[in-house]
Amino acid sequence: MSQSLATVAYLGAAILFILSLGGLSNPETSRRGNLFGMIGMGLAVLATIFGPRVGPNGMAWIVGALVVGGGIGLYAARVVKMTQMPELVALMHSLVGLAACLVGFASYVDTSIQLTGAEKAIHEVEIYVGILIGAVTFSGSLIAFGKLNGKIGGKPLLLPGRHWMNLLALLVVIWFGREFVRAETIADGMLPLIVMTVIALLFGVHMVMAIGGADMPVVVSMLNSYSGWAAAATGFMLGNDLLIVTGALVGSSGAILSYIMCQAMNRNFISVIAGGFGSGAPAKKGDAAAAEPQGEVTPVSAQETAEMLRDAKSVIIVPGYGMAVAQAQHTVNEITKTLRGQGVNVRFAIHPVAGRMPGHMNVLLAEAKVPYDIVMEMDEINDDFPETDVAIVIGANDIVNPAAQDDPTSPIAGMPVLEVWKAKQSIVMKRSMASGYAGVDNPLFYKENNRMLFGDAKKMLDEVLVALKS
Ligand code: TAP
Repeated sequence: MSQSLATVAYLGAAILFILSLGGLSNPETSRRGNLFGMIGMGLAVLATIFGPRVGPNGMAWIVGALVVGGGIGLYAARVVKMTQMPELVALMHSLVGLAACLVGFASYVDTSIQLTGAEKAIHEVEIYVGILIGAVTFSGSLIAFGKLNGKIGGKPLLLPGRHWMNLLALLVVIWFGREFVRAETIADGMLPLIVMTVIALLFGVHMVMAIGGADMPVVVSMLNSYSGWAAAATGFMLGNDLLIVTGALVGSSGAILSYIMCQAMNRNFISVIAGGFGSGAPAKKGDAAAAEPQGEVTPVSAQETAEMLRDAKSVIIVPGYGMAVAQAQHTVNEITKTLRGQGVNVRFAIHPVAGRMPGHMNVLLAEAKVPYDIVMEMDEINDDFPETDVAIVIGANDIVNPAAQDDPTSPIAGMPVLEVWKAKQSIVMKRSMASGYAGVDNPLFYKENNRMLFGDAKKMLDEVLVALKS
């Protein structure tokens, strides 16, 4: 394939990636968005394999790597549970970071690249910055993976003088950068490069270890952004325009997503980006005082729940992590259809961080074929609770916790929440009085107009459905 044809293919792939991102912004177009992304990636891979820069020997390596990498990816995609998605994503980000580091070192020792003067300096800065971002992304993502799957504790590690340590590390990295660019030979430049890599790896570990478990969603999205910049840096090192464009798309969309999530969790975006995040971290499970039940609750049966739903004119359903665990979305859809058939106005309220990953609830509801037009974002529906007869909370906890508004000392104080307690009647469906992800008690459970339907969400909803239909 000629260079110009490869360039045209890359341009096509870049356009498809942009269309893909556009499609993914709306549930109705997300399938098409995914398809655009897949075609774009296929095109990019083909243009690279058959492009002018890969010889017959290179081809064998690429095909071998594709088979091994693709096989592992396929296996992981088949076995991973939806609720484990964030940790899989974190692990994948670490691979992008590792790739950026390896490409950086390979470019540096590649003697076929003969540059002089400003061009040489620019190439070396690309290598230095690429490895720096790659190493931070690699080690930070591995720690995020460990925290998300519980292998590393969620408690933030706050070393004394950690901001000063970070500042010192930054100064040392800048100084070694100067030494690196000044080095006459590859051997001379290797020491500063290795020292910087070690500092960057330690910085990545330190940055994520300092973040409380409840703030991990923002961190994963931020590492997603970093992995994009690492890929863009790799593109500069390899002189690959498509990698630069794709990396920039991932980097900027990850940054926007981090910003949206920060707002949803009332966190400061700048302090997340700087990594000095989590000193006011939410209490974790095991913080007995925060998680202790603080009052009496009124239990309700599935039969009674069905009666309340049948008598209601308007119902808002709030799904959360427990609906995902119980895989109750199909029953939820059946109940929705039954109630709508009986003339009840049923809508869904989706909190931006419900579940364990962005869009988690939207994906589950779309899978169960719940119509998109009754699925509302938090801001669209939050004012409607006072006019709602029944708000039914299915396996959600933190996202409906009034303490976020009422108790300034609460670990989740200031987080925007769905105001279900303002509905005439609220029903919370969960198995026990256990706390949610943030590990704090929920005063909603003890409100006079609240009822608790205890049990597995799928099992209880099946019973509600039977009662509704009888
Ligand atoms: P949580 O606050 O985690 O509450 C989920 C509740 O579901 C639990 O209290 C649990 O109570 C219940 N549950 C679990 N399995 C169940 C089952 N089989 N049947 C019925 N109930 C079940 O969830 P949420 O309200 O969706 O809030 C999300 C939280 O996760 C936020 O704190 C958010 O910051 C965090 N987070 C979000 C993300 C993203 S991006 N969405 C990523 C990581 C973390 P029982 O054990 O008593 O049943």
